[in-house]
Amino acid sequence: MMRIYCVKDYDELSRAAANRIAAQVTLKPDSVLGVATGSTPVGMYENLVRMYESGDLDFSEVTTVNLDEYKGLGKESSQSYVYYMEEKLFSKVNLNRERTFVPDGTELDSEKACREYDEILAQVGPADIQVLGIGHDGHIGFNEPADYFPDGTHCVALDEMTIQANKRFFESEKDVPRESYTMGIGAIMRAKTILLLVSGEEKAGILKKALFGPVTPRVPASILQFHQDVVVIGDEGALKEITE
Ligand code: GLP
Repeated sequence: MMRIYCVKDYDELSRAAANRIAAQVTLKPDSVLGVATGSTPVGMYENLVRMYESGDLDFSEVTTVNLDEYKGLGKESSQSYVYYMEEKLFSKVNLNRERTFVPDGTELDSEKACREYDEILAQVGPADIQVLGIGHDGHIGFNEPADYFPDGTHCVALDEMTIQANKRFFESEKDVPRESYTMGIGAIMRAKTILLLVSGEEKAGILKKALFGPVTPRVPASILQFHQDVVVIGDEGALKEITE
């Protein structure tokens, strides 16, 4: 089943998303949270940190698994996803660091890095809830448009569109890594609940395609139509083409 919640703006989206995660952790303190990076969930993390600081949320038994990481970047690089997570969440709440997992971008042997991450995912079990953003080309995690839906963690060459979209975080375009490790579509689909967050008009077209177009690996997020429990939180801009 897919439920689509329309909120007014980014601020409301961030609060609604944090409330959904908080409800999950409150009901099941040892939840496995699949977490995402990118600009969309930033406000959600801010709200979660606030709830923790006010004593309303306890992360001590929570496990987190991240979707992806740039190949070649580690925690020293301010553009790595592990750095992002440290900054936005890990260092600000009482998560047990031994239960926060991000693919190891510093492992340059792709096969090894992916195999190790799949072993971790198998050990911690499917995410209770997986937070997702969506890329302009319909990617989830870093699962770019492809000929098939990959099951496990794999190394991907980033699409030109993704490199262009992500260069804003780097000094120059040439600094954007060309490859990354990402959880596969299979692992994402095994999450019990999917929380897809989408903000802004620039995502309206791809969101409509993903939710109501044909299910195809050319639009990786379209596979979510086959998931049994998807919660989409979109703001007015993002849902523009769906609600009109
Ligand atoms: C990035 C990430 C995704 C993210 C997406 C959208 O490249 N790998 O996990 O969901 O692109 O990012 P944003 O939220 O900044 O638009």
